[in-house]
Amino acid sequence: MNQLIPIKEFSERRRRLVEHMAPGSIAIVPAAPERTRNRDVLHPFRQDSDFQYLTGFGEPEAVLVLIPGREHGESVLFCKERNPEKELWDGFLVGPDGAIEQYGLDDAFPIGDIDDILPGMIEGRSRLYYPLGKDHAFDAQIMDWVNVIRSKVRSGAQPPGEFVALEHMLHDLRLFKSANEIKVIAKAGEISAEAHCRAMKRARKGGFEYNLEAELIHTFMEHGARSTAYPSIVGSGTNGCILHYIENSAPLTKGDLVLIDAGCELECYASDITRTFPISGKFSPEQRALYEVVLAAQYAAIDAVHPDNHWNKPHEAALHVLVQGLIELGLLKGTVEEAIEEEAYKPFFMHRTGHWLGMDVHDVGDYKIGGAWRQLEPGMALTVEPGLYIAPDNIHVDEKWRGIGIRIEDDVVVTKEGCRVLTNAVPKTIDEIEALMAG
Ligand code: GLY
Ligand code: MN
Ligand code: MN
Repeated sequence: MNQLIPIKEFSERRRRLVEHMAPGSIAIVPAAPERTRNRDVLHPFRQDSDFQYLTGFGEPEAVLVLIPGREHGESVLFCKERNPEKELWDGFLVGPDGAIEQYGLDDAFPIGDIDDILPGMIEGRSRLYYPLGKDHAFDAQIMDWVNVIRSKVRSGAQPPGEFVALEHMLHDLRLFKSANEIKVIAKAGEISAEAHCRAMKRARKGGFEYNLEAELIHTFMEHGARSTAYPSIVGSGTNGCILHYIENSAPLTKGDLVLIDAGCELECYASDITRTFPISGKFSPEQRALYEVVLAAQYAAIDAVHPDNHWNKPHEAALHVLVQGLIELGLLKGTVEEAIEEEAYKPFFMHRTGHWLGMDVHDVGDYKIGGAWRQLEPGMALTVEPGLYIAPDNIHVDEKWRGIGIRIEDDVVVTKEGCRVLTNAVPKTIDEIEALMAG
C-alpha cells in the first residue's frame, strides 16, 4: 500500500483526467503484466507508471476504466479476486471490495468477468482512449472487446469510432508534480545522495566497480527503496566515457576517476544523480581542469532553470560554458559561436543537459509545443547533467586528456523564483569531494 501519496490524491488525478476527456468517451488503462526472468522466476513486479499514477494500486492483472458521467461512478477497477489458497503462497490480494474501500474506486469487479462486462461499458461511447500501440497484446484485447459490440450492430449496438492515444492528455498531467509528489522525489533524492556519499567513502579501498554498486544498493534498501530507478552506472577510468555502462565489473585503479550515475526508486518515483570522483581521493591536474569546466556548466544550467526560460535554456547555458572551457584547455579551436554552430563539441558532449523526472526516470511530458521549446513552469521536475567525455582513442587531442569521462547530475524542481535542487546533500565541488574522501 502506498504511504507517501494520500489515497485521495489518486481520486483527484482521475477526476482531472475525466475532466479532460471528451463527452461520451471512455478510457481504459491496464496494469503492467508480470514478466518472466527465467523459467518460473519472475522479475520483481513494477506497476505501469500511468496505471500507478491513476490508482496507486500495486497488483498486476488489473484494468482501470474511466467513464465520464456513469451513474454508478466514473472510476471502475477490474482486479484479481481474493483467494485464501493463492494468498497463502503469493501474498495478500486486495480484491474488488478492498479496491473500493482502500483505494477509493467507485466500483470494482473481478478481472475474470472483464470480457462479459467491459464491452457493455464501451457500447454507446463514441471515443475510446487507451495506451494505443504500447503493447500489441493489449491492442488486440481492445479490438476483441470492440468486435463484440461490432457483431451486434444489427441489434442497434454502437461501437466506438474513434481510438485516441491516452498518453498525450495523461502525460501532461503527470508532468506537473503536486506538493506530495515533490516530497517523494525529494526523499528519493536524499536517499540517493546518501548512497553516493557512501560509495565515495568506500572507493579508496579499491576493489571492483561492483563494490561501489553494492554500497549504493545497501543505502537504497536500508531506507526502503527496494529498487533502483534504472540500472546503476559505475564506470571507472575509460568506462566513464561509455554513457550507459552497466557492466560494473572492472577493477578500481588508483589515478582513475569513477563516474557513478545511480538513483533509487521510492514508491514508483525516481531519483537520478551522477557524481564523478578520483578513486585515490585526489584529482590529477587534468581531471581537475575538466571537472571545473563541467561543474561551472552545471551551475550555469541550474541558474537557467527558471519560469522565465524555456526548456532548452539550461542546455544552451551549459553548452556555452563547456565549449568555452574546451577552447581554453586547447581541446577545441576557434570561437565559442563557431564551435557551437559547427557542433565541433559533439565528440566531447553528445547528450542533452537533462530530461523530465518523475515516475519514470526519463519522465513523460512534451518538450516542445507547436514546434517551440516549452516554457518551464513551477512543479516541473528535471535533471541537470552536463558532462565531458574524452574518448580514449581520440588522437586529435593531447594524450593527457584521453579516457577522462565526467558527468555531474542533480535533480531539480522548478519554483516560482527559479528552482530548488533536491540532491545537494552529496558534494560536488572538488574541495568537498576530497574532504569527504579523506575523512
Ligand atoms: N541515468 C540516466 C540518465 O542520467 O539519463
Ligand atoms: Mn543519470
Ligand atoms: Mn539523467
